[in-house]
Order: sequence, then structure tokens, then C-alpha cells
Amino acid sequence: MHLGLFLLAAGHHAAGWRFPGAESGTENFELITRMAREAEAAKFDMVFFGDRLVTSKDAHPSMITRPDPLVVLSALAVQTRRIGLAATASTTYSDPFTLARSLASIDLLSQGRAAWNIVTTVQDGSGNFSRTLHPESSERYTIAEEFVQVVKGLWRSWDADPYVRDKEAGVYIDAAKLHELNHAGHYFQVKGPLNVTRSSQGEPVLIQAGSSGPGQKLGARHGEVIFTAQQDLAAAREFYGQLKRQVGEAGRDPSQVKVMPGLMPIVARTAAEARDKLATLQSFTDQSKAHHMLSVELDFDLSGADLDAPVPDLPLGDGGFSRRGLLLRIAKEQRLTLRELYHHVASSRGHQVVTGTAEQIADHMQHWVDAGAADGFNIMPACFPSGFEEFAREVVPILQERGQFRRDYAASTLRGHLGLAQPV
Ligand SMILES: Cc1cc2nc3c(=O)[nH]c(=O)nc-3n(C[C@H](O)[C@H](O)[C@H](O)COP(=O)(O)O)c2cc1C
Repeated sequence: MHLGLFLLAAGHHAAGWRFPGAESGTENFELITRMAREAEAAKFDMVFFGDRLVTSKDAHPSMITRPDPLVVLSALAVQTRRIGLAATASTTYSDPFTLARSLASIDLLSQGRAAWNIVTTVQDGSGNFSRTLHPESSERYTIAEEFVQVVKGLWRSWDADPYVRDKEAGVYIDAAKLHELNHAGHYFQVKGPLNVTRSSQGEPVLIQAGSSGPGQKLGARHGEVIFTAQQDLAAAREFYGQLKRQVGEAGRDPSQVKVMPGLMPIVARTAAEARDKLATLQSFTDQSKAHHMLSVELDFDLSGADLDAPVPDLPLGDGGFSRRGLLLRIAKEQRLTLRELYHHVASSRGHQVVTGTAEQIADHMQHWVDAGAADGFNIMPACFPSGFEEFAREVVPILQERGQFRRDYAASTLRGHLGLAQPV
């Protein structure tokens, strides 16, 4: 199986930073480096950074401050040697040439270990980007499709090995290996070529993390890794089958797309102790932030709502924002109040939380992979460093022992770790 570390440096649990022994801080670069190296020592495929473009004092503690993930990757590129480095960037609030260039630069700097998590950005960022409006979901995905085509086109500006450097003949570069893009589309006009050459993995790996209908379509056309939030095995299998079918229909090889649901592991010596640990985390959850966090995660204004009333029937929103649908389904199935749903959101934002012994967590992961529900997992520790160290030092060796996970890197690039072909 494939493993990613989703590094949210005040912990994924909104109260993770309050857990005894926890260290925190999205600007605590020493902690981030230490955790990336821990993931590398455990032979993880990649370390992954999310991003949001607007903030608030009431946001999830890991999301109040957010250093630019591309800048963080540049630093990690020289602090690590083998692990893949993935960052989120928005197709709604970026410029394709600038982003293609930054990612290609990180890919070179890291010697073929970069990945881009393509997101369309649910939260309205217009106020920070001199825009007058935030496009609705379906248009965001139309923009994203063209954006990704431009980025891929730019990355293919150069054939491999364009440098000649013939001092005698005075030939520095083979001009035949340079191609203009000349993209003239609806949203973007980009001439190219890109002024950065290809890395040892060809170009960065493309990750896609939206699960609505248009999100899956974009993922099926371009995604090489699909991040998703799945609560239960049946829903995860259905998503997996549906996604791989769409990959086939898009004319691509389904084995070249890796589906990695998020998973928050709570490891302890006994199952009861693990449940207690989760209860301790829940007891630290700040109730005063419930309205804000629910409004953000459901993308619906819930300020003033009665937290102890049942979760209201909300519309699915423009184009079907998938996280809202997922959380509403959990609420319906478990007949939750808004406060109870808030505890779900505060712990893992809709991702599965698995409590148990290291053995039990390894069993769970193996079961999902064997059942055709996942190709691996994006690990979301509740807190750092212990929440990750316990997983890396106790669960990973069991998976290695069982032959479910590599004991050492067999490749030097992220494409190599993931078993992905190099784009021609
Ligand atoms: C593991 C994971 C991580 C994500 N990280 C981000 C992120 O950092 N920033 C962001 O804007 N969206 C992120 N997303 C994607 C949003 O949740 C996505 O835009 C949202 O699901 C809306 O798209 P959809 O309606 O197509 O699902 C992430 C999704 C997953 C599953």
C-alpha cells in the first residue's frame, strides 16, 4: 500500500495541540522538518500540505496561520532525500504559468519528488485576490480543467535532456527540444514555453482531492493520486470502483491512479485505552468555535444555530460540494445534533478515525486495501509528534512484516514510489 503523511502542524484534531506532550505550529519549521524526516524513515511515499487562502481567528488551529506550502516544499526539498513532497494549490486563485514554474522548480530542486494537489477552493477568496466574485462550483471546475491542461502543456515545453553544452561548437541547448504552447482558451492565453526543464520524474505528480461529480471527472482525466474522505468500507468501495471506472472511460489505465482516503489513527496499548485517548482529545475541543467551524466545513452560514438541536436539512449546494454531503450523511445515519457533528468536524473533518492497538489499525488498513476500497492512505495524526510517531514506529513495522508496505525505497522519485509511469 501507499502512505502519505498529511502534515497539519497543530494536529488534525482541532484540540490536538492541547494534548499532553503535543508540539504545534504551522510556522514551527523545526517540527515540520522532524515529522517529514520521521515519515521518510518510515519509508512513506510522500508528505502532504493542504492550503486555504482565507483565514479567521476562529478557524481550526492548524489553519489559522498558513505559510505558503510551495515555499515549505522548497525548504523540505533540501532537508529530505527520498520522500515525495506534495502541496495544494488552487486553480481558482493562481496563475497557470506561475504555478507550473514553481512546481517544476521544486521538482528539479527535489530531484523528482514534487506533487501538486489540484483544488478549486470552496471558500470565497475573492477579497484577497482583487476579484469581484467567487465563481460557483461548476465554473470552478471548468476553469480547473483548462488550468490543468495549460500546466501540463507548459511542463511539456522541453523534451528530456535539452542541454548540449558543446563548448567547442558553441551550442548550449538543442533548440529542437523546445516547444511553444500557444494556448488560446476561454480563461487562459499562454504562449510558453516554460523556462524550466523536466526533472528526473518528468513532471510533478498530479493529485486531485474533490469528490463531487465534476471533481471526480477532473480526477479521472488528470489525477494520478486521488485523496478522498470516506467513513465506511461500503462507501469507500463504491467510490473506488466508480473512480477507477471513470479513469478507464477517460482512456487511462486505472492502475495508474492511486486512491488514498484520509485516516486518523489513534494508537494505544489496548482498544479501550485508544478510545480513552480520543475521549481526552474531544474533552479539549473548544465549544466556542463550533458555529464557525461548522459553517466553514459545511460551506453554509450556521451562526446562531442551536447546537443541541438535530442537524438541519441543508441544500447540497451549487454543483454538490462533496464534503457537505458526506457530513450530512454521517449526521443523518447517526441522528446527530449540530454539537455532535461539530465533534466529528473538530476531530477529522469527515475523515475516518480508527482507534485501537497497532495490530488492529494495521488489520483495518489491510482490510480496506484487500477489499478494493483503497490503494493506500493519507495519514492524518490527531496531534504531533506523538500521534505520528506512534503510527510510524508501531503500525508501519507490522505492515512491513506482513509484506503490505515497503521496508525500503526502491526508487528515488515520487513517481517511482507510487509505481507511476513517466509522462512522455
Ligand atoms: C485529503 C484532502 C485534503 C484536501 N485539502 C484541501 C486543501 O488543503 N485546500 C482546499 O481548498 N481543498 C482541499 N481539499 C479539497 C476540498 O475538500 C474540495 O475542494 C472539496 O471537497 C470540494 O470539492 P468537491 O465538491 O468536488 O468535493 C482536500 C480534500 C481532501 C480529501
